[in-house]
Amino acid sequence: MPFTPPDASAMRRCMGRFTTGVAVVTALDAAGEPQGMTINSLTSVSVDPCVLLVSLTVGTRTADAVDASGAFAISILGVRQEATARRFATRGGARFEGVEAEVTDSGIPIVGGALVHADCRVHTTTDVGDHRVYFGEVGSLRDRAGTGLTFHSGRFGEFHDLGHAEMPWLF
Ligand SMILES: Cc1cc2nc3c(=O)[nH]c(=O)nc-3n(C[C@H](O)[C@H](O)[C@H](O)COP(=O)(O)O)c2cc1C
Repeated sequence: MPFTPPDASAMRRCMGRFTTGVAVVTALDAAGEPQGMTINSLTSVSVDPCVLLVSLTVGTRTADAVDASGAFAISILGVRQEATARRFATRGGARFEGVEAEVTDSGIPIVGGALVHADCRVHTTTDVGDHRVYFGEVGSLRDRAGTGLTFHSGRFGEFHDLGHAEMPWLF
């Protein structure tokens, strides 16, 4: 198959084949109101110090809230939280209404029942095209066992263990 120059649709299609987990990033805006959106751009960057990154579309309410507060929280969703992923990715509507919300020690709302919660302070930002990449220094985090929600080519799914030997992955 020939290589072709990238455009938005080829980039979305190709990168959509990269199966990811699904998370909700949340932050308090300048008025102290909770904002949040579904993301799959979450990546671990460093363990000394503990830094992760999220890439948010410039101009979204959540990006504005992170800019205003200098802090954000991450909720990594479990397989039973597809409805939450859809709600936090749909424009309009009160995203936190009816969601079992909790707060981090620093007061940022998080999605109840998620597999992992992390409380982050903005370490650095870098603007790349239509997105702003936020590097967040993790102040505290917690997790529970469970199966994560995944995303592939526009559809939600779940991880299946192939049953092979565990791969050493701590690098
Ligand atoms: C699975 C999934 C992953 C997403 N990942 C991102 C992401 O990493 N960054 C981003 O800016 N938008 C991402 N989006 C889109 C936002 O969730 C969506 O545009 C949201 O409505 C933006 O918030 P707003 O309505 O406050 O502008 C993703 C959507 C889905 C369904």
